[in-house]
Amino acid sequence: MADRPKRILSGVQPSGTLHLGNYFGAMRQHVALQHEGEAFYFIADYHALTSVQDRERLPALVRDVALDYLAIGLDPERATFFRQSDVPEVTELTWMLATVTAMGLLERATSYKDKIARGQSPRAGLFFYPVLMAADILAYQSDLVPVGRDQVQHLEMARDMADAFHAAFRCEVFRRPAARLAEHAEVVPGTDGQKMSKSYGNTIDLFAEGKALKTAVMSIKTDSRGVEEPKDPESCDVYRLYRVVAEPAQAAAMAQRLAAGGYGYGDAKKELLAAIEARFGPLREKRRQLAADPAHVEAVLAQGARRARAVASVTLERAREAVGMRARPA
Ligand code: ADP
Ligand code: TRP
Repeated sequence: MADRPKRILSGVQPSGTLHLGNYFGAMRQHVALQHEGEAFYFIADYHALTSVQDRERLPALVRDVALDYLAIGLDPERATFFRQSDVPEVTELTWMLATVTAMGLLERATSYKDKIARGQSPRAGLFFYPVLMAADILAYQSDLVPVGRDQVQHLEMARDMADAFHAAFRCEVFRRPAARLAEHAEVVPGTDGQKMSKSYGNTIDLFAEGKALKTAVMSIKTDSRGVEEPKDPESCDVYRLYRVVAEPAQAAAMAQRLAAGGYGYGDAKKELLAAIEARFGPLREKRRQLAADPAHVEAVLAQGARRARAVASVTLERAREAVGMRARPA
């Protein structure tokens, strides 16, 4: 199974508007990695069905993720970019993997427990989520899976499922994937100082603009130090966000100004706003152009689905053979 470029795969759930945390924690690395191997990126709409059950909203969320990724530089000629549900081989493989997966393995999944603790209903689909994710990873014979820390356990589970399948059917069908944590990725703080997350309502959306963007930036919580007082940059969330968005030299300059005093949080917020405009303004323009051509976006996803199916169907043929099923009639 050697002699091909490294295959990099990741999925993004279309379950809400993407924010600066998603961009700096995940999306930016996805785009950079398309130059390091054969990248497969997909919009995980079957996974999203565990939380978005609304036929009007789901397609809009899928379209938004597609536009966001294309606008930030995902190149559909380099990377295979597709919708998870356009590749039925993955759900087929999910079943096969489920038959070798111990209940205990799924019961240990911390993200399931977290979601239940946060009030999501305990449904079979939510419990099965890691099996579907393993099928995503194994169907495309992935080598590297860039994910956030919260997903590392799911990746270990995918390796366990591959091993269990190989042991049960005495075969060697899947590559064993490795996780790749985003380098130097720091947790991007939200407007309330906690981790930025759509579940906490503290986000600055990646493509926010105008008044909405300004309101979000101005709402960042700060302490009550007056303009003249010296301030500690590390405990200032405006600075912690600025450091992520701006150039290192600009960030160092802001840290100095805060520490020196005579520079208020309002001034820092204005600079942060300007840095967001400078960095994301041009991408917004690109997104607008893409949004004006929905047929192009559909064509990109359709081409991605064809390429993805070509790979997944080869894996599925081998898996069917391994379990004792015949090749499917054409
Ligand atoms: P959310 O917390 O908004 O629901 P997700 O859990 O869907 O975001 O995360 C999608 C990806 O973005 C994951 O790889 C995750 O690690 C990354 N990510 C999300 N929020 C942040 C953050 N505040 N800082 C860094 N990375 C983040
Ligand atoms: N569960 C991932 C998340 O919420 C999304 C995802 C689905 C994924 N399938 C995947 C990520 C396969 C990597 C590989 O972020």
